[in-house]
Amino acid sequence: MTSLLSFSFFLLFMFFLHCRKTSAQAPPASGPPNITAILEKGGQFTMFIRLLESTQQDDQINTQLNNTNQGLTVFAPADNAFSSLKSGTINSLSDQEKVRLVQFHVLPTLMTMSQFQTASNPLRTQAGNSDAGEYPLNVTTAGNQVNLTTGVDDATVANSVFSSANLAVYQVDKVLLPLDIFGTSASPAPAPSKPEKELPADTPKGSSADATKVDTSAAALSLNHRALTVVSLGVTIFAAVAFRP
Ligand SMILES: *[C@@H]1O[C@H](CO)[C@@H](O)[C@H](O)[C@H]1NC(C)=O
Ligand SMILES: *[C@@H]1O[C@H](CO)[C@@H](O)[C@H](O)[C@H]1NC(C)=O
Ligand SMILES: *[C@@H]1O[C@H](CO)[C@@H](O)[C@H](O)[C@H]1NC(C)=O
Ligand SMILES: *[C@@H]1O[C@H](CO)[C@@H](O)[C@H](O)[C@H]1NC(C)=O
Repeated sequence: MTSLLSFSFFLLFMFFLHCRKTSAQAPPASGPPNITAILEKGGQFTMFIRLLESTQQDDQINTQLNNTNQGLTVFAPADNAFSSLKSGTINSLSDQEKVRLVQFHVLPTLMTMSQFQTASNPLRTQAGNSDAGEYPLNVTTAGNQVNLTTGVDDATVANSVFSSANLAVYQVDKVLLPLDIFGTSASPAPAPSKPEKELPADTPKGSSADATKVDTSAAALSLNHRALTVVSLGVTIFAAVAFRP
């Protein structure tokens, strides 16, 4: 009897050890942050991810994150920001202009929400030397509200998607259109030349559904653990009762 009881407790003990180990593994692998993975998790940045990948700025950002002391800030336009652009706005750009467009969404320093309040204009972006008047991007704030203005369009910083010691990712409600590419606000977008192809304005493919799936299975997993605990306890109690001398 005593040996059976202690065997049951041993099983329970092993089970709890196992639980602790699996829950310790739960957070995603640390290491340098991966901008694509971060945006995929956000679930509504399909178009921006495609643009990052087609311009190889995803690799550029990940490499820079590995080497920077100052960190990076990324303004990520959500899919509806892209679909509200005049059709052809992105696809009529040259490859070089697409690179600059993406770089215009990246600051070579980490900026917290409160740091925007004291930032001096224009902000430095990765697109060009704003001190020399290239690719100016201005910030205006009122209370907690942070707006960005390019001279072509204005965007509002909607919320923080990710923040770590060297990376801040914010969702913005507009694609930031640099003055250097899109000219004066009187003629914001070049006439569409070809139908959208590389960046079709289709609905984002279930990235948010994927995120939900991950969450659900994690919940199911912890539910399984709980069920197993109950079963183990049941076995222990049954053994104690059934094999009473
Ligand atoms: C970053 O994440 C993306 C998407 O999850 C993945 O395809 C890519 O291999 C990752 N890159 C690195 C350097 O881990
Ligand atoms: C980051 O640095 C580590 C160690 O120096 C290296 O192994 C890894 O490949 C680098 N990752 C990227 C994306 O550059
Ligand atoms: C930011 O933009 C919104 C929408 O265009 C506007 O209502 C708000 O007044 C702006 N705030 C600042 C601080 O510029
Ligand atoms: C941005 O700020 C600079 C410095 O205050 C100013 O000279 C410039 O006109 C501003 N540009 C826009 C588009 O707001």
